Amino acid sequence: MNFLRYERIVEFYPAMWPLLVPGYVPILNAMQEIVGSLGHRPKEILDLGCGPGSATIAVAPACDPAGNITLVDGAVGMLRAAQALLGNNVKQVISGDFTTPTTAAQTFLPNCYDLALCSFALHHQQDTEKRQIIDALGTSIRKGGVLLLADEVATERPAGWQLIEQVRGRIIQGHLDSGRIPAAFLELETSLPSDQHLPFLPTRVDDLTSFMARAGFAVTCPILVFGSALLVGVKSS
Ligand SMILES: C[S@@+](CC[C@H](N)C(=O)[O-])C[C@H]1O[C@@H](n2cnc3c(N)ncnc32)[C@H](O)[C@@H]1O
Repeated sequence: MNFLRYERIVEFYPAMWPLLVPGYVPILNAMQEIVGSLGHRPKEILDLGCGPGSATIAVAPACDPAGNITLVDGAVGMLRAAQALLGNNVKQVISGDFTTPTTAAQTFLPNCYDLALCSFALHHQQDTEKRQIIDALGTSIRKGGVLLLADEVATERPAGWQLIEQVRGRIIQGHLDSGRIPAAFLELETSLPSDQHLPFLPTRVDDLTSFMARAGFAVTCPILVFGSALLVGVKSS
């Protein structure tokens, strides 16, 4: 995978994603509520496709203050931003594409995480790869540990793709008209060479649920907000 798109937008990312993805903030808030309701504070934490550390910082108040975080991302600038945000709790930084054998072997050690976050990091993968990654997460999360999987999904579009895209388009247009989305960010996104574009591959939420169940997780009903979903899995076997 090519990470130029993400390398270019590191400084804009934390302010722009809440404006571009209507489900993003509700889902990160839900993550914190869920981790805060576990009855224990996770200590060994994986953030897969961490970006600037947004999901980890969202759940941090509910985690062990002495927690050890493993960060994985293919964009070096994102890893630097996450490290700067999360400081001394970062135990390991893995730079690379987590679909490749080398990075996967470093990341998915058996039974080592209490909590894994995979937040808006799988929607460039085909379903086969998504399933492999979820299987690998299943092997590396301890029994009783939790996977929070958030991503773009295909099934919250009952009247078809256009309905959700119209809603999302209207929200984004409002942010553009008001200037909340700055021209500099728009220019970066629209000037990306076409051969560097990443595919947008939302999966059916029932398929994601099934992938998690087959990887050994007891899975909740998803939380869905305008085309984005949060699934919660507890490692049960
Ligand atoms: C949309 S951002 C999500 C960042 C963060 N998890 C969040 O919830 O805001 C996607 C991040 O995943 C990383 N990413 C996507 N696919 C990846 C892959 N195959 N290997 C490593 N990193 C990946 C990108 O570089 C980017 O930083």
